[in-house]
Amino acid sequence: MGKTEFLKSDDAGIARAAEILKASGVVAIPTETVYGLGAIARDETAVLKIFKAKERPLMDPLIAHIPNTWHTLEDLQDQGLINAAKLSRVAKDRIQLLMAAFWPGPLTLVLPRGPRVPDLVTSALETVGVRMPDHALTQKLLCELKEAVAAPSANRFGRVSPTTAEHVQAELNGRIDAVLDGGACSVGVESTILYIDPLTSAVRCLRPGGIALEDIEKVIDDRVERGAAGTATVSNPNAPGMLPDHYSPATPLLLLPREDLLKGLENGFEGLPSVRQLAILFLHGPAIQAKRPEIHAVKTLSQENNFETVARNLFSTLRELDALGVDLILAEKCEEQSGLGFAVGDRLKRAEHKRLRRIGGSA
Ligand code: TXA
Ligand code: MG
Repeated sequence: MGKTEFLKSDDAGIARAAEILKASGVVAIPTETVYGLGAIARDETAVLKIFKAKERPLMDPLIAHIPNTWHTLEDLQDQGLINAAKLSRVAKDRIQLLMAAFWPGPLTLVLPRGPRVPDLVTSALETVGVRMPDHALTQKLLCELKEAVAAPSANRFGRVSPTTAEHVQAELNGRIDAVLDGGACSVGVESTILYIDPLTSAVRCLRPGGIALEDIEKVIDDRVERGAAGTATVSNPNAPGMLPDHYSPATPLLLLPREDLLKGLENGFEGLPSVRQLAILFLHGPAIQAKRPEIHAVKTLSQENNFETVARNLFSTLRELDALGVDLILAEKCEEQSGLGFAVGDRLKRAEHKRLRRIGGSA
């Protein structure tokens, strides 16, 4: 593949993105969560290019992104995206409720797949992940195409997801046809993925993300089953994004409790003898100056106690620290069990290098 075109956020940019996609190309598109690498979902030639560019295994299914004109289950059925005949009345009602409450937005629903979705998109599963992204530029593009666009996050497989067009270029320049610049993503972590049992309508979370599980529970007036984190394996991924080694920066990362980080900032980090240069990442609190020579940078994700800000800054700050060339990133462990903090904790655990867990004792 030749040069990657950098498309501006105007009508000409959208028109060019549509033209490339219609010609079986792949274009990185902004969403409210992270940038996705898009291809027209029906177009197997194009979808295959996504897997090649990302070096993504074919067993990892893609999410279909839909225009905001497809409001109802009937719309999804008419488009051949889902097979509503497999859904019981209660499941249909619950899915409609979720669509009405959270779309457009960072919620992916795993539904029985329809006849127009190729095996390549679903990894031959009987289900398809569907989401209506909440980003004006990408919605304009989707509405112009009148097509579902399959898009995983626009990073190399296993790496940190991109939240700006520049991040996409750093990951995939020369491997994709174009990137549409929609600015920095407002949510910053990927969508929440839900599996809805087609018969009983029981809801299971496959990946925590931009919509808090408690907010979903309020809408459905029922419990959302939390997936057993870290139980997925390569041969049996319940959502392959749940693989324990996902979302990793290249620099080794270790999670430590806040108190240990604060102590280490003063007295040094004993027990990490081979480490020459460190970077430190705090979730909350005031900006902190590094006083010790081995500490290259100290970053705080949110100066207030606000997990929305933490989530928005998480991936871009990990990228910044990764680019410093330090030996180790020490990040504050996130124990939050609710809201966006639950998704932040999930991503940080996956970013931690498993080899290092024993040292930190944070398994
Ligand atoms: O916010 C997001 O969801 C972003 C933006 C671009 O929309 N997309 C994203 O895609 O995070 P990706 O491919 O990086 O992660 C999607 C996850 C994968 O782990 C995949 O295994 C899971 O969704 N998934 C997709 N279809 C599925 C299905 N039918 N059943 C179970 N899991 C599915
Ligand atoms: Mg991803």
